[in-house]
Amino acid sequence: MSYPKVTIVGAGQVGATAAFVLATRSVADVMLVDVAEGLPQGKALDMMHSRSVLKFGPRVAGTNDYADTAGSDVVVITAGVPRKPGMTRDELLAINAGIVASVVASVVAASPEAVVICVTNPLDVMTDRAWKLSGLPASRVFGMGGVLDSARFAYFIAEATGAAISEVDALVVGAHGDAMVPLPRLSTIAGRPLTDLLPEAEVAELVRRTVFGGAEVVALLKTGSAFYAPGVSVASMVEAVLGDTGAVLPTCVRLEGAYGISGVHMSVPAVLGRAGVVAVPELPLTDGELTALRASAQQIREQIAALEAADV
Ligand code: APR
Repeated sequence: MSYPKVTIVGAGQVGATAAFVLATRSVADVMLVDVAEGLPQGKALDMMHSRSVLKFGPRVAGTNDYADTAGSDVVVITAGVPRKPGMTRDELLAINAGIVASVVASVVAASPEAVVICVTNPLDVMTDRAWKLSGLPASRVFGMGGVLDSARFAYFIAEATGAAISEVDALVVGAHGDAMVPLPRLSTIAGRPLTDLLPEAEVAELVRRTVFGGAEVVALLKTGSAFYAPGVSVASMVEAVLGDTGAVLPTCVRLEGAYGISGVHMSVPAVLGRAGVVAVPELPLTDGELTALRASAQQIREQIAALEAADV
């Protein structure tokens, strides 16, 4: 059996987790690429050792050479430096911008037809940069932020209410950072809005924990940042693309007019398929929600402007 080919740049915590999920769920063959010699090869070999136990078909390989990534259907970019305790996503900006620039040039040269999914933080700015440098249509370069933030919100909702996680449908849009916009009114338990089920103060606390969900993990780990939920989240986007499922996932996409926002990448629900972002169906938002979303966009715009002014 042959499988689609996914390249994951950055064989660190997030990249390796995504690779393992994609292989063990029989979604794709995975090529792990990293600047560190031996790291992608070692992790790939370790994963392949688990093949007879888990009985999965796809192969995982590791390389330091982009020639081995040629012909990929999807490329996931996780290369970068993770957040350290006390470090904001924004402080990562200058370091990771340089890394993303070099990675994008290499992956696009090797796989000009690929759909590219960015995971490197600060996510919205890095996705914008990856798209601009790629020369690809915006539908084929997007980012993973909203899936993770929504998953964290869903977890906190399920824990607080005792609801089965499978009954919780949570939605977070906007920037992947402190300016994210959790939408309790559009988050449901068995179809009922969270705002009808919990008092306002409790909803506010769940929102607060969601916004600081990543920082909470960083503070506990002390070295590095979250990777299980990020790895699984990006794998779910790859699965939607390769399976041409039409799943509507909160995706960091280029906005050109939707929600009255233009010229930035940030997470809103988008239809994902084999071509990448197939459509961005606009949610009916209240004035308050729209104001928060536009403030989130403005923060990203300022970060992009600062990065471009610094000419990194
Ligand atoms: N090309 C390829 N790989 C690179 C490059 C590069 N130019 N620069 C760094 N890397 C690799 C590192 O060698 C490392 O193996 O990227 C990997 C990053 O892995 P980790 O340090 O484990 O970081 P991780 O936790 O996986 O996070 C990766 O995702 O969620 C975001 O904020 C997070 O931006 C960070 C990224």
